[in-house]
Amino acid sequence: MQAEPTLLFRREPHPRPTSAATRADLMANPGFGKVFTDHMVTIRWTEAKGWNDARVRAREPVTLDPAAAVLHYGQEVFEGLKAYRTAAGVTLFRPEQNARRFQRSSDRLAIPALPEALFLKAIDELAAVDVDWIPGGDGSLYLRPFVFASEAFLGVRPALEYWFIVIASPVGNYFKGGKKAVSVWLSDTYTRAARGGTGAAKCGGNYASSLVAQAEASKHGCDQVVFLDAAENRWVEELGGMNIFFVFDDGSLLTPPLGGSILEGITRDSIVTLAKRAGRVVREEPYSIEQWRADVRSGRLRECFACGTAAVVSPIGEIKAANGGFVIGNGEGGEVTDGIKAELTGIQRGEIADVDGWVRKVAGL
Ligand code: PLP
Ligand code: COI
Repeated sequence: MQAEPTLLFRREPHPRPTSAATRADLMANPGFGKVFTDHMVTIRWTEAKGWNDARVRAREPVTLDPAAAVLHYGQEVFEGLKAYRTAAGVTLFRPEQNARRFQRSSDRLAIPALPEALFLKAIDELAAVDVDWIPGGDGSLYLRPFVFASEAFLGVRPALEYWFIVIASPVGNYFKGGKKAVSVWLSDTYTRAARGGTGAAKCGGNYASSLVAQAEASKHGCDQVVFLDAAENRWVEELGGMNIFFVFDDGSLLTPPLGGSILEGITRDSIVTLAKRAGRVVREEPYSIEQWRADVRSGRLRECFACGTAAVVSPIGEIKAANGGFVIGNGEGGEVTDGIKAELTGIQRGEIADVDGWVRKVAGL
């Protein structure tokens, strides 16, 4: 990808930013994705101008023509990454990986790729202008870059106009109540993605089609849904919004392979790297639901966890399914999961040496 000639970001600060007292109130217990900062970054794309009109501006509603292609054909992709307040300043974790995945997702959805430098600059600009919204402690500022087709045209083809936007939300735990372990519902009705589909892209459509399965999970008292593959309805793929790892009695890890139907999680990749360095055997191999059940029965499977930017590392304690569920270990996670979480979050928060160069300081902060 060729570097874009420097695009000037016009800074238009919010005329009436949230007061410090209101902000403190909002940030006291933010949950996930409910509280938003004062600003957003927008960049437009047109066929004639390419990426243009970059602005850091007050967060406000976007006006769209009712014929905007995104509203009809769902041409949209997004990302999710966090800014952390650390002793070394405000930092991001592997943001260039988000920029690159955003390009891959965009390619899959026939959206013009945003240059990596512009993606990173947009993140830096928003984190800087809304720096007071970055929580300390266990919290972080969740950044949500997204791009969508805004052209008013009902023909089915890639649109000729797009908006790229970044918004930000101070967040705590993704799972309500910061539970020790989460429960997942095994969907035998719905699948998430098939070979040749959009499973590896972070596009809104994948999440839209997962909602009914997620609702089924909630109905059964579960926090998340776990999907099996679409061809055989047998191989464990991932959760609605996170990847999955299995921990065995010999200390080895297994996670489903990247075959085009699951999201290439940055947390997943980081855990694979860290676990291998720690001397663990890590297999990226298909794992069937029958094997999962058998390994729980035999005691070979000791722990299981979900991972992602929002979920961080969350132990999975229980699986529920139409044909019978099961509990993993004592149902509360375990020490391997805890150790992996501690190492990952330690690096992310600047408390453990970053030997891989994953942590990137936000410019000027
Ligand atoms: N899988 C899905 C479907 C997701 O939505 C996410 C979250 O982004 C992940 C996996 C984990 O990806 P990452 O670790 O890059 O956040
Ligand atoms: C993320 O972890 O960034 C996601 O997009 C997942 C979603 C469940 C919030």
